[in-house]
Amino acid sequence: MKKSDFSPETQMLGYAYNPELSEGAVKCPVFQTSTFVFKNAEEGKAFFEMAHGKPGHEGETIGLIYSRINNPDMEILEERLKLWDRGEAAAAFSSGMSAIATTFMTFLSPGDVLLYSNPLYGGTHKFVHHILTHFGIEVIGFNAEHDQKQIEEMLEETGHAKKLKMIFMETPANPTNDIIDIEMCSRIAAKYAKDDRKIYVAVDNTYMGPLWQHPLKHGADIVLYSATKYIGGHSDVIAGAAVGSKVVIGKIKKTRTFFGTIIDPNTSWLLMRSLETLKIRMETAALNAEKIAAYLIKHSKVEKVYYLGFIEKNNPEQSAIFKKQYLSNGAMLSFDVMGGEKEAFTFLNSLKHIKLAVSLGGTESLAEHPSTMTHSDVPVEEKEALHISDKMIRLSVGIENYNDLIWDIEQALEKIVIPKREKAM
Ligand SMILES: Cc1ncc(COP(=O)(O)O)c(C=O)c1O
Repeated sequence: MKKSDFSPETQMLGYAYNPELSEGAVKCPVFQTSTFVFKNAEEGKAFFEMAHGKPGHEGETIGLIYSRINNPDMEILEERLKLWDRGEAAAAFSSGMSAIATTFMTFLSPGDVLLYSNPLYGGTHKFVHHILTHFGIEVIGFNAEHDQKQIEEMLEETGHAKKLKMIFMETPANPTNDIIDIEMCSRIAAKYAKDDRKIYVAVDNTYMGPLWQHPLKHGADIVLYSATKYIGGHSDVIAGAAVGSKVVIGKIKKTRTFFGTIIDPNTSWLLMRSLETLKIRMETAALNAEKIAAYLIKHSKVEKVYYLGFIEKNNPEQSAIFKKQYLSNGAMLSFDVMGGEKEAFTFLNSLKHIKLAVSLGGTESLAEHPSTMTHSDVPVEEKEALHISDKMIRLSVGIENYNDLIWDIEQALEKIVIPKREKAM
C-alpha cells in the first residue's frame, strides 16, 4: 500500500507537512507572519505572475508571497481538507459565510439566475435575498418536495432559463433535515449548460461535515463548509472551506484574494489540530444523536422528531435519496414540542447542561430556537411552509455521555406544561 492510499483519518496527522522545512518540528508551527521574503527580485516577479495566472509558468509551483494570498498553515490545511471529499483542491476561508459569499460572487453576474434549495441557513438566505438580488441576480427557491420536472417548470416560468448559472443547495437542510437529490440537480445543470456556459452545482455540506456526505461523487462541482462547525468542532473558531476541482477552486481563490476572505494562520493551525479528531468526534456525536432521537420519539411532550434516522417515517419518498447519498444519520436533530414558543422556551430555559446557543458541530451539545434565532430573518410564510415553527427546538448533539444528555432533556421536558388544546389531540 502507498502512503497516498491511507484513509483520510490517517492522513490528517501529517499529510502535506515536511518537518525538514520547520526545524524538524513534529507539528507544523504557526507561521504568524503577514509577508514572506523573496530570494531575489526575479523570484518575486515570478510568484506574482503565477498568482495572477500569467502564462509561462506551467508546471512551476508558486512560492509564498503574502498571507492574504498564501501561508504555509493555510496551504497544509487546504491539502488536508480536500482528502475527505476526494477533491483535487480546497480553499480555506475566514468563515462559512465568506466561503459561500466568495463562491457566489466568483460565478454569478448581474442577469444570471440562481436556483437554491429551501430552507437555507438564515445567513445564506439573507445573502441570497438581499445581496445577490441587489446585484441583479434572479433567485428561485425550490424545496425537497419538488421533483426535477417541477423545478424545471419554475425555472422556465421566469423566461430566463438560459441565464441559469448556479444551483446551490443545503442538504441536509438546517434545521429540518430535509434532503435534496444532488444527482437530480446536476442533471438540471447539465441540461441547461451550453459549451460556453457551465452551470455550477454547489452544496453546503456543513450538516454532514466532510465525513458522511461526499457531494462531488454525486455530480456537485463545489462543496462548501462552515468549518466553524464539525471541522473546527470545539466552538472556538470561525472558519469556512470550499472543495472541488483545481480549476473551480482556482477561480474561487482568485476572488478570495481580492475580497480578503482568506483564513488566518492561527485559525488554520487550530483547524489542522481539529481535523486529527474529526472522525472520532463525529462518530461519537452520531451515536449520541441516535440514542437521543430514540428517546425523544417516544416522549409524550414531543410532537415530531426531524432526524435522518426517521426518514422512512417522516419522508418515505426521500429514503431512496438518503440511501444513495448519506453514510450516517448525522448528529443534528430538531424536534417540535407540544405547544408553541412558550413551551419551547420553557424547555430551553430549563436545560442544565446543554447550552442555549446557536452554532453546531462542537464537542458540547447546544440547543436553540430556529424560528426566533438562526432563522428569525426568514419570512414567516416561508418558515410556515418549511415547518420551522415556534415549537421547534434544534439540537446539536455533542460528545458527552448520552445518558447525561438524556437526563438533561428529560428534566427540561418535565418543566413544560402542555396547553389544554394539545392535550386533547
Ligand atoms: C448550514 C450552515 N451554513 C453556513 C453557515 C455559516 O457559517 P459561519 O457562521 O462559519 O460563517 C452556518 C452557520 O451556522 C450554517 O449552519
